[in-house]
Amino acid sequence: MGLHIGIIMDGNGRWAQARGLARTQGHREGLKVAKQIVKAASDMKIGFLTLYVFSTENWKRTADEIGFIMGLVRQYLKSDFNFCRENHIRVRHAGDLSRLPPDIAKDIADVCRDTESFTGMQVILALNYGGRDEIVRAVNRALAGTSAKEKEIEINETVIAGHLDNPDIPDPDLIIRTAGELRTSNFLLWESAYSEYYISKKLWPDWSDADLAEAIENFQKRERRYGGAYAVSDREYHHE
Ligand code: FPP
Repeated sequence: MGLHIGIIMDGNGRWAQARGLARTQGHREGLKVAKQIVKAASDMKIGFLTLYVFSTENWKRTADEIGFIMGLVRQYLKSDFNFCRENHIRVRHAGDLSRLPPDIAKDIADVCRDTESFTGMQVILALNYGGRDEIVRAVNRALAGTSAKEKEIEINETVIAGHLDNPDIPDPDLIIRTAGELRTSNFLLWESAYSEYYISKKLWPDWSDADLAEAIENFQKRERRYGGAYAVSDREYHHE
């Protein structure tokens, strides 16, 4: 099983503002870079790539900006099926699909279904995603799955992990954030307990394949202890 990398693609707005352009132009450029990084990660045989596209908090932005990002998502989902087929990329979703515009929710469900059998890298689009929201939905799903008389089920780590949006996907090994901010912004809260973080000062639209390679190289030099005293190999951690 290959590495799981998560990316907080930050800095589109700043990139545009620095050039006297509308924020939306930054998102357009951000989509181009996202496509390029998906291809690079797939060529590097990364197992899973989670992209933070739109958070549960991003609804606070102007209607224009939200509409534009949703438009880019729609364009990406519609135009990139051939690319996914050629590269065996499976697309998945994390977040609350039920609170997205119905047409986008349908496009996402369609692409997830149409790429389900592809066995290469999995790209997880975190869209209307919030880490706290995911944990709350996981607990509610666990409770909903039990009969009234069993309502006193014990909520433990295994139960929550088993009801997350994509319970079969391993926790991220590395989380990359661009544009220099030092916070998680509600990204993969449960899953990132032992993830390594890599912060890049570059804004997302300035990112390239070389930056991804550098982040991975930096990650590979680190010693992961998972709370223990000694370095643990990924093999041992995943009990393979
Ligand atoms: C953060 O920059 C970026 C976003 C909230 C949107 C990310 C969306 C894309 C890259 C396009 C869609 C991609 C796919 C894969 C469908 P910001 O606006 O917060 O930048 P700022 O912090 O400089 O204002």
